Amino acid sequence: MTSQIMIRRPDDWHVHLRDGDMLNMVANFTARQFARAIVMPNLTPPVVTVAAAAAYRDRIMAALPQGADFTPLMVCYLTDGADTEEIARGYEQGVFAACKLYPAHATTNSAHGVTDIRKLTTVLETMQRIGMPLLIHGEVTDRDVDIFDREAVFIERTLAPLVRDYPALKIVLEHITTAEAVDFVKASGPQIGATITPQHMIINRNAIFDGGIRPHAYCLPVAKREQHRLAVRKAAVSGSPKFFLGTDSAPHAIGRKENSCGCAGIFNAPYAMESYTQVFDEEGALDRLEAFASENGPNFYGLPLNEGKVTLTRQDVVVPDVITEGDISVVPFHAGETVRWTFADA
Ligand code: NCD
Ligand code: ZN
Repeated sequence: MTSQIMIRRPDDWHVHLRDGDMLNMVANFTARQFARAIVMPNLTPPVVTVAAAAAYRDRIMAALPQGADFTPLMVCYLTDGADTEEIARGYEQGVFAACKLYPAHATTNSAHGVTDIRKLTTVLETMQRIGMPLLIHGEVTDRDVDIFDREAVFIERTLAPLVRDYPALKIVLEHITTAEAVDFVKASGPQIGATITPQHMIINRNAIFDGGIRPHAYCLPVAKREQHRLAVRKAAVSGSPKFFLGTDSAPHAIGRKENSCGCAGIFNAPYAMESYTQVFDEEGALDRLEAFASENGPNFYGLPLNEGKVTLTRQDVVVPDVITEGDISVVPFHAGETVRWTFADA
């Protein structure tokens, strides 16, 4: 039985680092494990200008210990009024790594999201031309569509036509949760990739209702049936270069989760690599973890691979029930459970 593996330092291709006190509390959990991260722009107000993204990047670096070896990759939040020139300028200047499409009201802080993708024709044409990736929260927001079907319906109604209309546009379908998403990505060309979270490989929808309502197992897209969990898991460990690591770590203060209208989001950053490694181990695929965590993402984005190394050691760690700093408490993924692997810088 393998007791230790050493891999190239990984990156997180989808994370919410928040702002203010929450940023100061959570940023180092990500920076300690990952060399780079695609930082989601769903702040209030959302990050839509080059100046706002550069200022946010500075706040992230200021939240980290001096000299931290971490590069935040900034993202422009698309609105109906998205400014093509601003986006292209941000990409050319190396401030924006990508744009994020939230269908309006699909998830946390998405009120300014896009109401109709046809409003973005010029933006999408430009992104396609300059090779700038489009990151998609792939759920319809139609309240008549069952919440467990919203990803599959989005693929059929919006994503398939989008891929047809912009055949060279680089697209990442974020945090995939269904067999339909896996099949769509696999059947598409190399310009279509997907991120996969730990939670969507570990829990199915039963976890949200396990003996009572479990707000800390609630995120969007919501976990689906077991057959979908298995399909997502299989895709991650398959060795396909189209699937890569994106935690979607999304911290909310405990009171905003344990609430009559609790926020969506799972805070998995503190034990992210431990969680992924455990899944790859269970699947007998430890030899494919490095590609998923450290190679497929940069290759998709056209960025260099990291030089550093990290180790994962087969050693039990008990995850705390809650992580607190100052006035803020957040419940991490796997709270109170034991994970079987421990992360360390090599
Ligand atoms: C995210 C958040 O809280 O910002 N929540 C989540 O459940 N994943 C938003 C998102 O990525 O949908
Ligand atoms: Zn997210």
